[in-house]
Amino acid sequence: MQIENPLLEEALRAIEKSLDEVTLEALRVEYTGKKGRITEKLKKLGSLPPEERRQEGEVINLMKKRVFAAISARKEVLVAEAIKIQLDAERIDVTLPGRGKAQGGLHPISLTIERISSIFLSAGYEVAEGPEIEDEYHNFEALNIPQHHPARAMHDTFYLSSGEVLRTHTSPVQIRVMENAAPPLKIICPGRVYRCDSDLTHTPMFHQVEGLLIDEQANFASLKGTIEDFLHSYFEKELPVRFRPSYFPFTEPSAEVDMACANCSGKGCRICSNSGWLEIMGCGMVHPKVLEMSGIDTNRFNGFAFGMGVERLAMLRYGVGDLRTYFENDLRFLSQFVG
Ligand code: PHE
Repeated sequence: MQIENPLLEEALRAIEKSLDEVTLEALRVEYTGKKGRITEKLKKLGSLPPEERRQEGEVINLMKKRVFAAISARKEVLVAEAIKIQLDAERIDVTLPGRGKAQGGLHPISLTIERISSIFLSAGYEVAEGPEIEDEYHNFEALNIPQHHPARAMHDTFYLSSGEVLRTHTSPVQIRVMENAAPPLKIICPGRVYRCDSDLTHTPMFHQVEGLLIDEQANFASLKGTIEDFLHSYFEKELPVRFRPSYFPFTEPSAEVDMACANCSGKGCRICSNSGWLEIMGCGMVHPKVLEMSGIDTNRFNGFAFGMGVERLAMLRYGVGDLRTYFENDLRFLSQFVG
């Protein structure tokens, strides 16, 4: 049955315009609820003459049905729209190119330690590590640096209230290995070391790699060959290397190793202060007293040792001019070493 009724039309229009289910429910109550505007009409039926009453009753029921039908139709549309909006928002475009992996990388100091270690590993050395908090015996005494030895002043030691120290070099690791393992020994000891020193070219914490070889034939020539081979592999250049007499309490004889400046090939530049040479490391034949203190039979064995600063080797290889950039953790600097 066709009905034209302004109230019904108003209700249908409102339903059509509604945007959510809460509004729809409010409209249902407004028109067809117990006190709804269409329901109210039923109450007036009684006052109508009987013949109109039946017809008007049917009309009202029909209006209610139309309202219910419109509400459920609208509800379906709204639900479908909500699902579509959600699906659109959650849509994954599988054809988009990937975001790529932001590749992390090792710190240049770690890279340098790895590079140094791998060169020595391929020459048969093993890596040894030890504590960064050391006792004075291993950091000094066992290395032939007794209590009032002037060499202690070179070390700018951090003393802990326990009487221990932050190790000032990785030489104590070599002592610990000699105490616990039988020769022949071939080890390198990479690690952090600490000295109470801070300026443009010194940081309170830095890294060293020290090496120790103990066997029956160690001599200065083999030390020299080992260091030359290492430097040529490390810098991938056959630059001249020279040994200058020097002094360390734990080696005798001792030498400082210089290499022709990798930057200017010995001509002289800002990096080598125009000398053409770069100081690279200290080395020497292990002092017999050091061997004896650690229980090595000096009638059979002797050894050589060397020690280098990792930051310096890293700066020379990567052409980094400022030591501090290694410790500032600026990603613009660090990300250059990824890959
Ligand atoms: N331990 C020395 C230092 O820290 C370096 C070194 C090691 C020198 C071995 C000679 C031999 O300065």
